[in-house]
Amino acid sequence: MQYDDLTILLDAATLQEGIVRLAGEIDRDYDGQGLTLVCILKGAVMFSSDLMRAMRTEVVRVEYLRASSYGAATESSSLVEIASSTLRPSNITDRHILIVDDIADTGRTCAAVKKHIGAMHPASMRYCTLLDKPERRAVPVEHDYVGFTIPNYYVVGYGMDLDERYRTLPAIYRLTDE
Ligand code: PRP
Repeated sequence: MQYDDLTILLDAATLQEGIVRLAGEIDRDYDGQGLTLVCILKGAVMFSSDLMRAMRTEVVRVEYLRASSYGAATESSSLVEIASSTLRPSNITDRHILIVDDIADTGRTCAAVKKHIGAMHPASMRYCTLLDKPERRAVPVEHDYVGFTIPNYYVVGYGMDLDERYRTLPAIYRLTDE
């Protein structure tokens, strides 16, 4: 198998320190109130499972949602749709929702997910991303929790892939030749 040349960006210990810090911020904000966690597939699977175990806040429900780009003649014209999800309005309406994503790039996923969940009238909705690449933003979005702000690198590992590879690496790497 041909492996790409990878350079470490965030090692496993640094990631865990960031997750503990985020968990502390979430615990302060929710102050004992339970939340429903919505994990954005597939990239946020590892991050969300570490985050929810680092939090003291009770996660009363875990749901999963997959967003996908379509109509992408060019990247700037691409759109994001909700491809599938475990959500039911009855489990969102009047609940406190924490959305957990692995990376914020153009912001389109965040915007589409917030619109989709917002239409179900949650009691509150906050968005947490492990990584943020603000240089790449195409639509204005607000994240309530950001683990690490990074330059415009293509990153893999800790849930994130290149053609579905590298998701199981315990740290985050960038492609060296980029
Ligand atoms: C990634 C990531 C975010 C989204 C961010 O998902 O998980 O959800 O892109 O990009 P945006 O800010 O430009 O919308 P991806 O489409 O790579 O799917 P995957 O998580 O299943 O690999």
